[in-house]
Amino acid sequence: MIKRKTIVTADGSTTLFDSVSGEHYHSMNGAITESMHVFIENGLKPAMLRHQKLKVLEYGFGTGLNTLLTFQHLQKLDVLCEYTTLEVFPLNEYEIRQLNFWQTEPLSDLETIFLRMHDCDWNSFVQIDTHFSIRKLPVDFRNYNPALLAYNLVYFDAFSPSSQAELWTTSIFEKIYKGLENKGILVTYSASGLVKRALREAGFRVKRLPGPPGKRHMLFATKENPI
Ligand SMILES: C[S@@+](CC[C@H](N)C(=O)[O-])C[C@H]1O[C@@H](n2cnc3c(N)ncnc32)[C@H](O)[C@@H]1O
Repeated sequence: MIKRKTIVTADGSTTLFDSVSGEHYHSMNGAITESMHVFIENGLKPAMLRHQKLKVLEYGFGTGLNTLLTFQHLQKLDVLCEYTTLEVFPLNEYEIRQLNFWQTEPLSDLETIFLRMHDCDWNSFVQIDTHFSIRKLPVDFRNYNPALLAYNLVYFDAFSPSSQAELWTTSIFEKIYKGLENKGILVTYSASGLVKRALREAGFRVKRLPGPPGKRHMLFATKENPI
């Protein structure tokens, strides 16, 4: 049974605590701060230098924070984005209403967009504005087989390898590697040696980057010149 409660993190933004896995959805040092650092600064921004149209694949829609930050960042720029996100334990109405992201910079005024992302249909792309569409898939990470070369940016945001080791495997990363275009990027908050090794075994070139507050490192992986 899923048991989650809302918590305010150090930068004032909310996150959820899942009492079954004992995991927070984001860092207690700041949910928005962490997502901005790992996924926007070190994932989305470098991907925009490599690709004209973004095809994002997220492992773990959760609160929708990464999705909303991606939308917000691209809103002012002339960049098209198709955003696919996997989730098997979606939030309920009450949990969604407890989150405060749109009361916090840089997401103020995005409440309607945020609720639309949560309320929209699953399984097919829904246009959120002229530049941004979202497709939510109710699929277990282990069962998802991305189509060949379908994406160019992956946000890997599962619960930590210490609580869900079965989701951080070479076989899952191999499927992602095949699903990425050349020069595609995968970013994750984890810097665990096991994850780094599994990514390398799957074919990725892997770099450790400085992490968000409270974490020394994160991982940045790319698909470079595959044969
Ligand atoms: C760290 S949270 C994701 C946080 C999210 N990206 C956000 O911005 O709020 C991990 C997410 O993975 C989901 N999840 C856990 N195991 C899963 C599985 N086997 N398949 C699909 N989703 C899973 C959880 O329900 C949770 O929403």
